[in-house]
Amino acid sequence: MTSTPKKVTIPMNGVDYRGKIVLAPMVRSGECPSRLLALKYGADLVWGPETIDKALIGTTRRENSTTNTVDFTRISSNGAKNPALNPDQRESVIYRLHPGREGRKLIYQIGTSNPETAVQAAKLVAPDVAGIDVNAGCPKPFSTSGGMGAALLKTPDKLCSILEALVREVGGPNEIGISVKIRILDTAEETAALVRRLVATGITGLTVHCRTTPMRPRERAIRDQLRMVADLCREAGVACLMNGDVTSREEALDLIAEYGCDGAMIATAAETNPSVFRLEAEGGKAPWEEVVEEYVKTSIEVENRWGNTKFLLGQMIPGKHSAYNSMTRTKSYAELVKTLKYDGALLKMARDVDKALDIGEYEKPKLTKAERKAANKTASKTSGGSHDRSMQEEVRKTAAGIKRKAATAELDKPPDIAREAGPASVPESASALAV
Ligand SMILES: Cc1cc2nc3c(=O)[nH]c(=O)nc-3n(C[C@H](O)[C@H](O)[C@H](O)COP(=O)(O)O)c2cc1C
Repeated sequence: MTSTPKKVTIPMNGVDYRGKIVLAPMVRSGECPSRLLALKYGADLVWGPETIDKALIGTTRRENSTTNTVDFTRISSNGAKNPALNPDQRESVIYRLHPGREGRKLIYQIGTSNPETAVQAAKLVAPDVAGIDVNAGCPKPFSTSGGMGAALLKTPDKLCSILEALVREVGGPNEIGISVKIRILDTAEETAALVRRLVATGITGLTVHCRTTPMRPRERAIRDQLRMVADLCREAGVACLMNGDVTSREEALDLIAEYGCDGAMIATAAETNPSVFRLEAEGGKAPWEEVVEEYVKTSIEVENRWGNTKFLLGQMIPGKHSAYNSMTRTKSYAELVKTLKYDGALLKMARDVDKALDIGEYEKPKLTKAERKAANKTASKTSGGSHDRSMQEEVRKTAAGIKRKAATAELDKPPDIAREAGPASVPESASALAV
């Protein structure tokens, strides 16, 4: 008689990670259009980019009828700098998701080092997503110095208390799963001890990135601990996704079978070409020209931030191709559509989005330094008082913080990505995201 394998119950609004090939969480590269494209090409589930709990707390949930998205927005530092001058630009989107096209397939990844703030933030998005995943793998100092990411691997008590709090206060009431993404530790014994604790917290899934914390993205993933992690997860009934150097659906299926995992997660290969999720029998990896056109269309449909779209195009268009250079020179969706010679209907949509985003021909003239100074002086005179001066100081600090985060966000990318990141405008997303 064979015994039925143990399986943690998957909550009603959640998803089982078993048998799934999924898009990895990627800061900057995992924004809404990238996720929609991965789903279009066959990804079974998509992870959003790590978004820090404190960035989400205080946001307002808005249903955007133009893009059919749900946006979590907050007053932007731009707007706060000069609210009187530019009231329209005060809302900035911290997290955008498309309920119709990804809602029940989207996992929100949270950056946190504290159970209370994790719960507070996760409660905001929980009704709109299929699961919440905790990032316990980001190795960068700006994440680890705050006790987040890979630092949590060294503070298992804290990591377990975060997961338990999320399971109890967010997963339960919203009937969604809570999961965690880790890296392997130096020895199999250390990894095993950690995994045993994690799978006992009530989580439904665990992703193991088969690199240790100090390993760079270019170094080959190490798979010798993978079977052990998969076995421990299976004993506890928790789904185990493998991650690291998976480049296609076929390869994922082979690795799953070889190491006894339940599913696989793809990052860099999908960042360059999300059609890696498509089976060979269904067409396999599509040419970059096709994928880029789909990406541009999708970005226009969801009014993706222009800087982010350009950044991703820098990853998708081969650097040696003439289209790469032409793309880097464009300053708006309309210019991009004309440069890439897409059809007229898209050009009309592109113009509308340029208008909505104030870019290209709709970009508002920038104030000179002297004009900005004068305007700030007038604004502080009108509203007066030390409170406003302290608010201005607060804004200045926030802006400096954003710049710092932007610089560090750059560091997380593998060298090849950093090299090609030329056209990107980092600061917009870096305010919220810090992997
Ligand atoms: C641009 C970029 C951004 C990333 N952002 C995140 C993130 O937000 N959260 C996370 O857990 N891992 C992040 N990672 C790590 C990936 O999710 C993945 O673990 C790693 O790239 C290994 O997978 P791969 O070998 O398929 O690239 C990021 C990786 C890249 C390349």
